[in-house]
Amino acid sequence: MTHAATIRTTEVVLPDAVEPDGLEVRTRDLPAPAPGQVVLRMEATGVSFAEQQMRRGKYYDQPPYPFVPGYDLVGTVVAAGPGVDAGLTGRRFAAVTKTGGWATHVLVEAADLVPVPDGVSAAAAETVLVNGITAWQMLHRLAKVRSGGIIVVLGANGGVGSTLVQLARHAGIRVIGTAAQRHHPAVRELGATPVDYRDPDMYHRIRTLAPDGVDAVFDHVGGPGVQQSWQLLRRGGTLVSYGTAATKDEEGSSRLPVLKLFAQLKLWHTLPNHRSAHFYNFWAGRRRPDTFRRTLAEDLTVVFRLLADDVLNPQIAARIPLTEAASALTLAESRTVAGKVILVP
Ligand SMILES: NC(=O)c1ccc[n+]([C@@H]2O[C@H](COP(=O)([O-])OP(=O)(O)OC[C@H]3O[C@@H](n4cnc5c(N)ncnc54)[C@H](OP(=O)(O)O)[C@@H]3O)[C@@H](O)[C@H]2O)c1
Repeated sequence: MTHAATIRTTEVVLPDAVEPDGLEVRTRDLPAPAPGQVVLRMEATGVSFAEQQMRRGKYYDQPPYPFVPGYDLVGTVVAAGPGVDAGLTGRRFAAVTKTGGWATHVLVEAADLVPVPDGVSAAAAETVLVNGITAWQMLHRLAKVRSGGIIVVLGANGGVGSTLVQLARHAGIRVIGTAAQRHHPAVRELGATPVDYRDPDMYHRIRTLAPDGVDAVFDHVGGPGVQQSWQLLRRGGTLVSYGTAATKDEEGSSRLPVLKLFAQLKLWHTLPNHRSAHFYNFWAGRRRPDTFRRTLAEDLTVVFRLLADDVLNPQIAARIPLTEAASALTLAESRTVAGKVILVP
C-alpha cells in the first residue's frame, strides 16, 4: 500500500454557464486517496461533446456548477489508498469519469481502471475511451450488425463517429458517413462513403447509395431529422439514437428534447414494423456496478487491442496543454475538426 504525500493538482473549473474563456484554472492539494481509490497523474484527457453541452447547462445529466469537467483520462498511478494493490503504482491506466478529468492529478476508484497496452500512447488511448466504448457497444452489443451489412453513421468525422466507421469497416460492414464537405477526404480515408450533411437532399442521396435500405443508422443529432433516419432502415434494421446535438443551442430544459426522443423511439420500437429503435446510453446498467465495470473493461480491452494492432488509427485533432482548455474547447466547438481534441499536462 502506498500512502500519498500531499499531491498538488492543477485543474480546470467550469464555474457556471460560461463561454469557453470563462473556464478557470486553479491549483489545490488533493486529499489522500480514500480506501479503494488511487491518484492518477494525467497524461491525456480530452474534449467530448458532453463538455460543449455542460458549459451551456444543457447536458442531460447536468452536474451542478462549479465542477471540473473531463469525461475520461489516461494516466499513471502515483498513489494508492488503503486496500488497493500497491502493484498498480507506476502503471498506466484509462478511466471514464464523466467529470473531473481536466486536471493534472485525479482521484479515481481503482475498480474503474482499465490497463492501457504497452506501445499505445496516452493520446491514442484517449481517443477511444468513451468514444471507443460507445462505438463498440452500439455496433456490436445493440445493433449487432453483421459482416456484409450496410450502415449510416451521422457525424463520421467526430470522435465517436470516426471510431464507429473504423470498427464497422474492420467488421466487414459498408458505411455511409455524413460530414461537412471539408471532412470528406478524411471520412473516405476511414473507409466510408461521405455524404454532405448540409445538403438538403442528404437523405435522398443516402437512399440512392443504399436503395434497399440500411441495417442500422447511428444518429446523435436528434431533432426532426431522426424521422428520416428511421425511414432509411430496411426490414430487420435498427435505429440507434444516442444524442440530441441538434438542440444544443435551444433555450429551455436540457431534458425535454431527450424525453421527447425517448417517447418517439419507444413508439417506433413497439409498433409492428419489423424494425427496432433504441436510445444508447453509456451509463445504462451502472446500478449493477460489478457487471457494468466488467462489460466496460471487456469492451475497452478489445478496442485497445485493435488500436495496438493498428486496426484503429487514432483520430487526434490536436494536442493542447491542460491550462489552455479554453482554446481546446473553442477549437472543439469550431465545427472544423476531425477526431478528438486532446488535452495534455
Ligand atoms: N448516449 C451516449 O451514451 C453517448 C456517449 C458518447 C457520446 N454521445 C454523443 O455522441 C455525439 C458525438 O460525440 P463526440 O464526443 O464524438 O463529439 P464530436 O467529436 O464533437 O463530434 C460531433 C459530430 O457531430 C457533428 N455535429 C455537431 N453538431 C451538429 C449538429 N447540430 N447537427 C449535425 N451534426 C452535428 C459534428 O460535425 P462538425 O464537425 O461538422 O460540426 C461531428 O461530426 C454527441 O452528440 C454526444 O452527446 C452519446
